[in-house]
Amino acid sequence: MKIDNTLAAVVTGGASGLGRASAQALADAGVKVAVFDISEEAGVAFAREIGGVFCNVNIMDEDSVEAGFARAREAHGQERIVVHCAVVAGGGKTVSFDKKTGAYKRTATEQIARSAEGIFTASYRVASIAALGMANADPLNDDGERGAIILTSSAAAQDGQVGQVAYAGGKGAVNAMVLPMARDLMDLGIRVNAIMPGTFATPPMLHVKEQAPEVFEGLGKAVPFPRRLGKPEEFGSLVMELARNTYFNGQCIRLDGAIRMPPR
Ligand SMILES: NC(=O)c1ccc[n+]([C@@H]2O[C@H](COP(=O)([O-])OP(=O)(O)OC[C@H]3O[C@@H](n4cnc5c(N)ncnc54)[C@H](O)[C@@H]3O)[C@@H](O)[C@H]2O)c1
Repeated sequence: MKIDNTLAAVVTGGASGLGRASAQALADAGVKVAVFDISEEAGVAFAREIGGVFCNVNIMDEDSVEAGFARAREAHGQERIVVHCAVVAGGGKTVSFDKKTGAYKRTATEQIARSAEGIFTASYRVASIAALGMANADPLNDDGERGAIILTSSAAAQDGQVGQVAYAGGKGAVNAMVLPMARDLMDLGIRVNAIMPGTFATPPMLHVKEQAPEVFEGLGKAVPFPRRLGKPEEFGSLVMELARNTYFNGQCIRLDGAIRMPPR
């Protein structure tokens, strides 16, 4: 897909971290970007900075996501690129010892279900609403390409750690969805890929740096090479390649400096 100012994109979670870096990379290439986020203040300011539009969207809510796409399309036309970075997830060990009660307890099923909704279901919601819009648009090139969907998984999908049953399970489900969705959409010329980031220096990780500098330092040292956390712009760079390169389809790609997560 030729990336230029004739294209529009939607980036969820675009107000922060990996979504923000993706939106920035797209905007730098001239693409009209709609920033979807629940963080209104940061989203409005950033969208203004990149000449895009902000849509206050909650990925957990079907009507909210539909309304966001309608607003983005009104402003920029049909999006041809969607980058889904927003996530709602929780943690918790399957069974853990509760010091307060002196007994073992398990993580509630409802908590796992909420993560499944915030990771897998929300990814499907965003991707399928985008795909429906793309299906009705003209092909962009001789291949018949109509659009590209980029989901965000995690290295945890393959090596989830202690306490990550919900998160790793959700991201694993995202990975498992990529190939069948690419196949579902093949006749429409819509590609689907996912990126599995290792550890990236985004606000949640920078929070760890503030709270426990030694843990943060350890995270960087655990990466074989380069011995540091990923830079959000390195994620943005892969987003651009996945959007640009028409032959990328049905893939889940690790972007992780060769890290393999230990049990904890
Ligand atoms: N940073 C990492 O090391 C890392 C590693 C692996 C995977 N990931 C994945 O990358 C993605 C982005 O993570 P990040 O580190 O950039 O996080 P981040 O916290 O910097 O950004 C997430 C954004 O999503 C928004 N958001 C949260 N709930 C939302 C909702 N219900 N609706 C709409 N927007 C909502 C937040 O306001 C925020 O702007 C996530 O899917 C995460 O699981 C990150």
